[in-house]
Amino acid sequence: MKWLVVLGLVALSECLVRVPLIKVKSMRENLQENGMLKEYLEKYPYSPAKFLSKNQNKKVTYESLRNYLDLVYVGLITIGTPPQTFKVIFDTAAADFWVPSVFCNISFCYKHRRFNPQSSSTFRLPPGPLRPVELNYGSGKIMGILANDTVKIGDLEDINQAFVLSNQEDGAFRFFAEFDGLLGLAYPGQDGGTPVFDNLWEQGLISENLFAFYLTSGGMRGSMLMLGGVDHSYYSGELRWVPVAKRRYWQVVLDSITVNGTIIACHDGCQAILDTGSSVVNGPNKDVLNIHNIIHAQHSFNDKYVIDCNTTTHLPDIVFVIGGINYPVPARSYIRKLRSIGEQGRLGGLEEFSSKTWILGEIFLRLYFSVYDRANNRVGLAPAI
Ligand SMILES: *[C@@H]1O[C@H](CO)[C@@H](O)[C@H](O)[C@H]1NC(C)=O
Ligand SMILES: *[C@@H]1O[C@H](CO)[C@@H](O)[C@H](O)[C@H]1NC(C)=O
Ligand SMILES: *[C@@H]1O[C@H](CO)[C@@H](O)[C@H](O)[C@H]1NC(C)=O
Ligand SMILES: *[C@@H]1O[C@H](CO)[C@@H](O)[C@H](O)[C@H]1NC(C)=O
Repeated sequence: MKWLVVLGLVALSECLVRVPLIKVKSMRENLQENGMLKEYLEKYPYSPAKFLSKNQNKKVTYESLRNYLDLVYVGLITIGTPPQTFKVIFDTAAADFWVPSVFCNISFCYKHRRFNPQSSSTFRLPPGPLRPVELNYGSGKIMGILANDTVKIGDLEDINQAFVLSNQEDGAFRFFAEFDGLLGLAYPGQDGGTPVFDNLWEQGLISENLFAFYLTSGGMRGSMLMLGGVDHSYYSGELRWVPVAKRRYWQVVLDSITVNGTIIACHDGCQAILDTGSSVVNGPNKDVLNIHNIIHAQHSFNDKYVIDCNTTTHLPDIVFVIGGINYPVPARSYIRKLRSIGEQGRLGGLEEFSSKTWILGEIFLRLYFSVYDRANNRVGLAPAI
């Protein structure tokens, strides 16, 4: 009997691929250390309102505007034969995949690893004219061309994967981002070829059509992306499932948001996106303002709200109710120490967002282990260990 159990364990560990995520310095920290944060915020004010903007031009892929200022989790992948290594952000709210290429001759591209197609025997360009792609981010544009090559994630070898080789990255601030590129894990978009995860599944490389994220708050290491299976040792209790409401992002229905047992936002239900490519929790302006009022946060600068450090231990949890289950976010998670206005200041981790959709980013996902189930189009959540 024991032998069977051991075999079972071996089989289980073989079908789950773990991709360690490394915590790096955020772009905000790097800009701050170089005295450039203020300039950045003035030049690129946070404008997530455009996050859900529609494609405007059919010839060009417009990516939802994102703000990667505070992102800190990166994973290593390789592209090409022999492999060239890149640090990427695994983003559940983007469908595209790009890395810098040697065609990017702008100074700040040199700060990052640049893909060289001439050094890869498996590189393929699509037939016909080059296909230009333009990805539009809050912190600037990425322009490039679409091509294919072998991509390795963990032990998985994804053959003939479409990706974007950037040749122009607008926004000198990319220099301060610790990641080279981005790998989207949303549902397939209209353009840009089959996403990486779809190819892993279609090529039979993973045994279950799902992936999961575990994000730690302390230490550099320990965070993990799991592909093709779920390691139950990363969460406590049972996974609670909710259906995906709209198959583009990992969007679910949020029943309500409560503080102290009182509904303070999303009274009649609303939508929320689980977003590993966002560091904060965002919501509609008036709702976030209401929460700021409840916790007595004062308006500071650039849409930021601060509260006195002394009061933080008395602050209530903000509870997100999803599928009838309460997911509390305690004050220690939704406030962040702000160095630039003195040690007294603390910055709300809740940011305003003029859309009706809530964004549950890293603040939420560090508290709750999350499973993204493409087979059943549902999301699973459980308290992270
Ligand atoms: C970048 O430099 C390479 C090598 O020096 C050159 O072949 C390429 O044309 C340049 N690309 C651009 C966009 O200037
Ligand atoms: C690149 O990959 C896509 C699938 O993502 C495929 O449809 C296309 O034919 C491939 N292109 C080449 C040149 O192999
Ligand atoms: C929450 O309830 C506690 C105890 O009833 C009370 O002391 C506190 O002021 C309430 N907080 C808010 C924000 O309503
Ligand atoms: C916060 O607490 C510190 C030390 O306990 C005290 O010196 C300071 O005056 C307090 N600030 C406010 C605004 O109450």
